[in-house]
Amino acid sequence: MNDNLNNFPHKPVMVEEVLYYLQLRQGYTIIDCTVGSGGHATKIIDKIKSDGLLIGIDKDMEILQIAKQNLSNTGGIFRLYHANYSDIDEVLRQAGINRVNGVLLDLGVSSMQLDRADRGFSFYKDGPLDMRMDRLNGITAKKLIKKLSERELEKLLRKYGEERLAKRIATAIINEERKFGITSTTHLAAIVEHAVSKGKGKIHPATKVFQALRIAVNEELGNLEIFLDKIHNYMYAGARIVIISFHSLEDRIVKNKFAESAKQNLFRIITKKPVTPGKSEIENNIRCRSAKLRSAERI
Ligand SMILES: C[S@@+](CC[C@H](N)C(=O)[O-])C[C@H]1O[C@@H](n2cnc3c(N)ncnc32)[C@H](O)[C@@H]1O
Repeated sequence: MNDNLNNFPHKPVMVEEVLYYLQLRQGYTIIDCTVGSGGHATKIIDKIKSDGLLIGIDKDMEILQIAKQNLSNTGGIFRLYHANYSDIDEVLRQAGINRVNGVLLDLGVSSMQLDRADRGFSFYKDGPLDMRMDRLNGITAKKLIKKLSERELEKLLRKYGEERLAKRIATAIINEERKFGITSTTHLAAIVEHAVSKGKGKIHPATKVFQALRIAVNEELGNLEIFLDKIHNYMYAGARIVIISFHSLEDRIVKNKFAESAKQNLFRIITKKPVTPGKSEIENNIRCRSAKLRSAERI
């Protein structure tokens, strides 16, 4: 299983910026809430050294196995938790920790998830319509589509995909589902392509539909809001939080919650505008092109 995953390496995004905004020091306790395969966490451990502690959370059990291998090579101290970061209170309770010196969230999907056909995230690779980051919990995209009415699917595509052609696409998906059943990722992609009858644009016509379903399946926006409402309780004064988001819906939530927390004198906003990757990073890793980093400091 791990060899399999190792065939799809994930390049951590905006590493220099993450380290800069976290203002790491030796001995710090840092929580990486989306540890993935440990790309950022490895670099964090380099800075906090072996008298620091890295707590890593991920809802993907398989990826955590890779994180464990990678972090074991650092010589640093770390603890990994298979959990949803919205349950941060429970994780820290289990870890016996009240407060941390820094928090990282690198939202979105790991390449180890996206590039594996059997995870069902990619419209380029034929696989089951799954899309769950946590394969032990929740309902698959296939079950979600089965459950929704045409109107509900249209709303979902509009809300989470900001898809202008939501109505037309929802009708096509539900018709196909009822007549034949939608069997796979490429089947769904073909239905969308046919429904919007677009020529070759810059992005695949199913991009927004896949984004919307993925957000819904993993309850991504709800988890982020729950987390942002409570994380201040677990940060020392002066501790930094860094969040990298990959689409405007997430970035808006981060921006608004930071602003709310600043009004309540809980956070000082460090990045007035989001920080984006440099040209050379984008050239080396096209997936980072939509990344936006925001940071705030606990007052
Ligand atoms: C972009 S990847 C992180 C990559 C990581 N920073 C690295 O450098 O290897 C995002 C990770 O967050 C995890 N994730 C997404 N939502 C989560 C949630 N609500 N709770 C815990 N983990 C989550 C995903 O399973 C995925 O592994």
